[in-house]
Amino acid sequence: MSTEKSNPSFTSKLGLIMAAAGSAVGLGNIWKFPYIAGENGGGAFLIIYLICVLVFGLPLLMTEFLIGKKSGKSAFGAFQAIRNNNRWQWLSWCCMLTAIIIMGFYFVVTGWCFHYAVAAIMHSFKGLDTTAFYAHFSHFVNNGGAMFGYSVLAVALTAGVLWFDVNKGIERLSKILMPLLLLMMVLMAGRVLMLPDSNIGMKFFFQADFSKITPGVVLAAMGQCFFSLSIGMGAIITYGAYMPKTQNITATALQVVVLDTLVAVLAGIIIFPAVFAFGVDPSEGPELVFVVLPGVFEQMSFSWLSSVLFFGLLCIAAVTSTISLMEVAVAFITEASATHKHPLNRHKAVLVVSAIVLVMVVFNVLSLTDKGTWLFFQGKSFFDWADTISANILMPVNAFAMALFVGWWLNKNEVHHEIGKKSGWQHWICASYLPLVRYLIPLAIMAIFLNGLGIL
Ligand code: TRP
Repeated sequence: MSTEKSNPSFTSKLGLIMAAAGSAVGLGNIWKFPYIAGENGGGAFLIIYLICVLVFGLPLLMTEFLIGKKSGKSAFGAFQAIRNNNRWQWLSWCCMLTAIIIMGFYFVVTGWCFHYAVAAIMHSFKGLDTTAFYAHFSHFVNNGGAMFGYSVLAVALTAGVLWFDVNKGIERLSKILMPLLLLMMVLMAGRVLMLPDSNIGMKFFFQADFSKITPGVVLAAMGQCFFSLSIGMGAIITYGAYMPKTQNITATALQVVVLDTLVAVLAGIIIFPAVFAFGVDPSEGPELVFVVLPGVFEQMSFSWLSSVLFFGLLCIAAVTSTISLMEVAVAFITEASATHKHPLNRHKAVLVVSAIVLVMVVFNVLSLTDKGTWLFFQGKSFFDWADTISANILMPVNAFAMALFVGWWLNKNEVHHEIGKKSGWQHWICASYLPLVRYLIPLAIMAIFLNGLGIL
């Protein structure tokens, strides 16, 4: 069967769930979530985050699945196919732009994970303490060559998986890796909870100090929710197009949300007790996972095994996400070029996207090193901007537009046909779906924005 003619699709419902969960569960859960929670007051952040997941996360995930499943198209053609006009084409391009910006920094951090996994395997951290890990991290993120090398490895690996048809590459791999990841996280959490004084970290993470909730915390939680669930970039639209026609959108979205949130909470349970046990400041920032955890492992029994497991797991989580990020762009380009004189097949599209991503990676890497001072704007590096702009601006704006698209541009019957009026617990989700995407979500995103800008 040729890749160009047949519509790509997953062969099983479980395959789709695992692939979507693989997309959602990633560095966002294990690297970003703990450090952002740490910077924003721990328990206070967790509560707001969970509310965001229910109010924005679940319905918006359903929205993207709906757009993808109904249209059967990638982020490029989905809106156009549903409404038969190209008034929404700009949103497709916004999705593509967001994908390129996210990939630029995401592949760099995936490269960090690879570096740490390799170092863990070689046991090069033997006997180091927290201070030495700080030194190691800052030395590594200033070494442009090494960082670029590891990012190239991550891009090559992702491109290698995408080279295959989706039901062979993405689907098969996700079905194996996702359960493995969950098992490893549970084992690690159990191990960390046996550390002395683990309750201090647990308190920080689970006890909400409501005085710490500020508009900034809410904006950060919303951005994190979008990022973690892969919402607002067309990744779930793209996977929705590969969804078996008999699959139930509500149940699938709920399963993905539960898995993703579970992994984020597990990551918090692994990291915060360790942070306090070793006297590190929880608001340390992006280096939190890379500085705290290797130090913890060194002091534990089975240190080699623990660190190899953890960083191996981080790489797995990262790669199932880079796969979905890149698939958006690959599907986009294949579809966009299909009507042109020189259509790009899947293989060519993978090469084109890899090239674009590598250029972005160069800027991101440079901006982290001493040579990249020209890539600083208003005191923030290109790398930091890519992260902030995508999670806190582009993804919420895209998601805002998608909610309006389904809420107002589709008629009720079309929506009910896809989401249905299920019985039992699903009834409540289905019944609240339209009011949420029509009113609450657009208004809330706008309010959080205006508030963040200091207008409201
Ligand atoms: N959700 C992933 C994470 O938490 C990152 C990711 C993968 C993503 N695909 C995406 C984010 C699409 C936004 C859009 O690490």
